[in-house]
Amino acid sequence: MTESLTVRDNRTGKDYELEITDGTIRAADLKQIAVDGQPGLATYDPGFVNTSSCRSAITYIDGEAGILEYRGYPIEQLAESSTYLEVAYLLLNGELPTTDQLAEWTHEVTYHTFVHENLKQFIQGFRYDAHPMAMLMAGVSALSTFYPEAVQIDDAENRQLQITRMIAKMPTLGAFAFRHQQGKPYIYPDNGLSYTANFLAMLFKMSEPEYKADPRLVQALEVLFILHADHEQNASANAVRAVGSTEVDPYSAVAAGIAALYGPLHGGANEAVLRMLRRIGSTDNIPGFIEGVKAGKERLMGFGHRVYKNYDPRAKIIKKACDDVFEVTGVNPLLKIARELEKIALEDEYFVSRKLYPNVDFYSGLIYEALQFPPEMFTVLFAIPRTSGWLAQWSELITDPEQKIARPKQIYTGHRTREFVPIGQR
Ligand SMILES: CC(C)(COP(=O)(O)OP(=O)(O)OC[C@H]1O[C@@H](n2cnc3c(N)ncnc32)[C@H](O)[C@@H]1OP(=O)(O)O)[C@@H](O)C(=O)NCCC(=O)NCCS
Repeated sequence: MTESLTVRDNRTGKDYELEITDGTIRAADLKQIAVDGQPGLATYDPGFVNTSSCRSAITYIDGEAGILEYRGYPIEQLAESSTYLEVAYLLLNGELPTTDQLAEWTHEVTYHTFVHENLKQFIQGFRYDAHPMAMLMAGVSALSTFYPEAVQIDDAENRQLQITRMIAKMPTLGAFAFRHQQGKPYIYPDNGLSYTANFLAMLFKMSEPEYKADPRLVQALEVLFILHADHEQNASANAVRAVGSTEVDPYSAVAAGIAALYGPLHGGANEAVLRMLRRIGSTDNIPGFIEGVKAGKERLMGFGHRVYKNYDPRAKIIKKACDDVFEVTGVNPLLKIARELEKIALEDEYFVSRKLYPNVDFYSGLIYEALQFPPEMFTVLFAIPRTSGWLAQWSELITDPEQKIARPKQIYTGHRTREFVPIGQR
């Protein structure tokens, strides 16, 4: 053992030496620490606040320093110089594609964008006011019925085909869900357009023969997709891995990821930021609002993060994208309030001492609103690019010989071995 931890069990006075690897001990090594006849020691960690569930070579985060890297490439460089499909390839394959590889990958994804007509009817079956995220989740789950061979998860070629299909069809399903809610006809993919330009066309095209989104908006969406592509073991990646560990098909595993992202604690904060900015209403009201936050009356939404104790690197990039989008759409008056709020908060002792900085959600809602998305679409806009991250996590899981079915322990706190009481005697 090169590095180790010595633990004394004060119940027995016995010492144990546990190996330390990569800054962790194996929870299973604690099992040997046992008092006669009792089960060995285990860890208790609700919410996995200090438990590594896997070894992963996909995404690196240093929350203290505000660093985010995909496969070792800083997010700032990828957002500046890459496209979403290039980043998806990187996440899935570990390396940036060559020109030929990117051309082939783009071709493959582009030619899998159509969905079976029955899937269209399936989406049509939802009520007019169905939440688009629920429609997306159901749509992805339904895809597994169209591709039953997806269950052959040990076949690498088959896995690759399902990955391509899912990344290709996600914008189509998201756009169908959006159009359904608006009561507008669904728009088929245009294979002459890029991934993001095609998505915008499927969302907003009406009677024009060809829909051409402003290239600055296409670029802003590309950047937002890159920023949201992966974020290591967050709640939805963990859901994909947990469900995927049962060896179910990848559509069902990704549907579980969408379910996790649907929850307000995961994907809903940018909508809360918009509500907050609207409520503040004018920069004059900011000092009073900040006083209320400091007095513990409410939280400054879009600030603070479980992992980042520094400026969220994604927030910096989004802030810049705001300028590009507003140049096209006209400035959202809420932006002025957001900028002033940020300026004041970054100088205020309360926020500085608690290391509370803007997170990815502080500005993203403003951009989505400027692009004319209703709030219910915000999480769909998150789920579409996150699919590449989920599938990279899923592929890593499937090919990791150390992984097992995710099955945590519990500390049982209920009754034991009681006599059944017939209903008449209760
Ligand atoms: C993201 C978040 C849940 C992280 O929470 P966490 O890591 O559990 O941090 P804690 O809740 O322990 O907060 C630590 C301290 O900062 C304060 N704090 C954290 N976020 C705050 C916020 N947004 N506004 C005001 N105070 C905040 C807490 O009140 C606490 O102060 P205290 O030590 O005086 O009690 C939290 O920062 C938050 O609720 N932010 C707003 C919602 C949001 O933007 N979510 C999107 C995340 S991507």
